[in-house]
Amino acid sequence: MANRLVVGNMKMNLTAPEINKYLKGIEKYAYGKEVCFCPSALYLPYFIGKNFSVGIQNIASTEEGAYTGEIAASQAKSLKVDYAIVGHSERRSYYGETDEVVETKVKMALSHNLKVILCIGETLEERDSLKTYKVLKRQLKSALQGMPAKVVSKMMIAYEPVWAIGTGRVPSNQEIEDTIAFIKDILKELCGVSVKVLYGGSVNSKNIETLNKIPNVDGYLVGGASTKPEEFHKIIEVVVTQ
Ligand code: PGA
Repeated sequence: MANRLVVGNMKMNLTAPEINKYLKGIEKYAYGKEVCFCPSALYLPYFIGKNFSVGIQNIASTEEGAYTGEIAASQAKSLKVDYAIVGHSERRSYYGETDEVVETKVKMALSHNLKVILCIGETLEERDSLKTYKVLKRQLKSALQGMPAKVVSKMMIAYEPVWAIGTGRVPSNQEIEDTIAFIKDILKELCGVSVKVLYGGSVNSKNIETLNKIPNVDGYLVGGASTKPEEFHKIIEVVVTQ
């Protein structure tokens, strides 16, 4: 379990004074590189240069240039950001990121040597109509088609059922284990490599002991619970220091 990763997707939360408080809350813990904070891009410089890893929640699909409000992969890399989350369901559903856009962003991030955390997951409707595996396969195929094994081996997948994000609902351990096994098999079939697969969706300090019993999970992508240092620390303690 030593190599499991805990990634905090802090989303668009916390003001500057709150971030200062947050940083004070985490500075007493000696986290290593298996803990990754993904604050709002505005606050990235405050998190960089410490012992833990840092990720950006989204990157532009283009190189630097006249794209108001966007952040280029090259800019994130130049700030020493380690990871880029790509294809989060909130990006897909609120900002219209299609499979094609996600594919472009994955390639962009990888070409600038950012480690990609590619998010995939089915909606409740897709799950209820038994299309989960079909949807996951489509998302993986579309984002990774034609990519060399060497490149794909540098990225990670976050399996995040859309219906579990921010809802307090979590699939059973068996369901997560089976879905992760499916994702790993697909990636072997498509690209001939083993990749790490994280689980995300309503992970918190109360369910982490149970979730951490899943044998084939390589870590967790934590949203809401990562915005409170003490709550996040309880999760990290279970996953990383056991
Ligand atoms: P949640 O979010 O932990 O608040 O459900 C997870 C995510 O969106 O990555």
